[in-house]
Amino acid sequence: MKDNIYLDNNSTTPIEPRVLDAMLPFLRENFANSNSAHHFGQAVNHKVKMARMQIAGFINAEHNEVIFTSGATESINIAIKGVAQNYSNRGKHIVTISTEHKAVLDTCKDLEGKGFTITYLPVLEDGLVNLADFDSAIRADTILVCVMYVNNETGVIQPIKEMASLVHAKGAAIMVDATQAVGKIDVDVDELNIDLLCFSGHKMYAPKGIGVLYVRKGANKIKLTPQMHGGGHEGGLRSGTLNVPGIVALAKACEIAEEEMKDNEKVIGDLRDRLENELLKLPNCSLNGSAVNRIYNTTNICFSGHDANVWIGRMRNISVSNGSACSSAIVEPSHVLKAMKLTDEDAFASLRFSLGKYNTGENIDTVIEKIRELTQSS
Ligand SMILES: Cc1ncc(COP(=O)(O)O)c(C=O)c1O
Repeated sequence: MKDNIYLDNNSTTPIEPRVLDAMLPFLRENFANSNSAHHFGQAVNHKVKMARMQIAGFINAEHNEVIFTSGATESINIAIKGVAQNYSNRGKHIVTISTEHKAVLDTCKDLEGKGFTITYLPVLEDGLVNLADFDSAIRADTILVCVMYVNNETGVIQPIKEMASLVHAKGAAIMVDATQAVGKIDVDVDELNIDLLCFSGHKMYAPKGIGVLYVRKGANKIKLTPQMHGGGHEGGLRSGTLNVPGIVALAKACEIAEEEMKDNEKVIGDLRDRLENELLKLPNCSLNGSAVNRIYNTTNICFSGHDANVWIGRMRNISVSNGSACSSAIVEPSHVLKAMKLTDEDAFASLRFSLGKYNTGENIDTVIEKIRELTQSS
């Protein structure tokens, strides 16, 4: 959309031109099925192998630990259901956090109906989990702990490495939803000691429809019961013809992120800080979530006494979001902000600004000006 000021990059990102260029030949002339035995198919298969190595390297995994999916939601479903079914003889307890994405919460809810017990841990007002509470929630019959690395609404970063140690000390596995982390900060599955990790391409300038599930192999190998049956692709874990253009695109997006991550952190972080500092000078405004343990591109601000949904409509060419969810035609306040003890009114008065690498200082000044105007007129 022409003149659109897009500050909703946690929702999705545009495709970066170099990523598009990399994938186009695989939509046009190199369209073969990567599983086909003929030379045409094998040439495409070679490209998939290279892409898998690039993506695995980006998160410091082995190539055979990377499973391609359609996105983080699918990765999360395969991981949680796969562990639940495979390890149910060891225990039927799963721990997660109340501020997780619905892909995790609703998958867990589904398992509750199938005989599993789920602990939904509360968070502190700053969105962080109390590690002592986290530790005591993990029981002898806990088979899996699911934690989001970076929260999509507030940007709050959980201490994954410490959490993974606590989980492993009790003999359980940890699944990390790293959808808002991969591509923005360094994610090293080995150093963090993660068993399962999920992310989506479209949050890091690759197209929609491609995602990754990392599954630990080696001595502490995780075994998943497959959820998708068919041709036995992806080591039997996710049958279905591979999305080659998406895979090639994701590999290119990883290569670019590796080069640009440090610069992005500085440039986007400065723009986010400038936006946040100016907005917090307005009357009755406050920051939602920890100011310290937070990703550099996100700010979530409560404009007490205002209605964020009305503002979103009035902002026209400015794309921002609030976390309210529409279920059965009733607008619900964000479950993340509610878990951080905000009232319904304050949750409805909150906006998330998530910046990306195409934002400019001019964009930020326009947004500040528009919000100033809105606080005065409503
Ligand atoms: C933290 C997090 N997890 C999971 C998802 C689901 O990703 P997708 O819609 O690409 O499957 C999202 C998307 O907003 C997210 O932000």
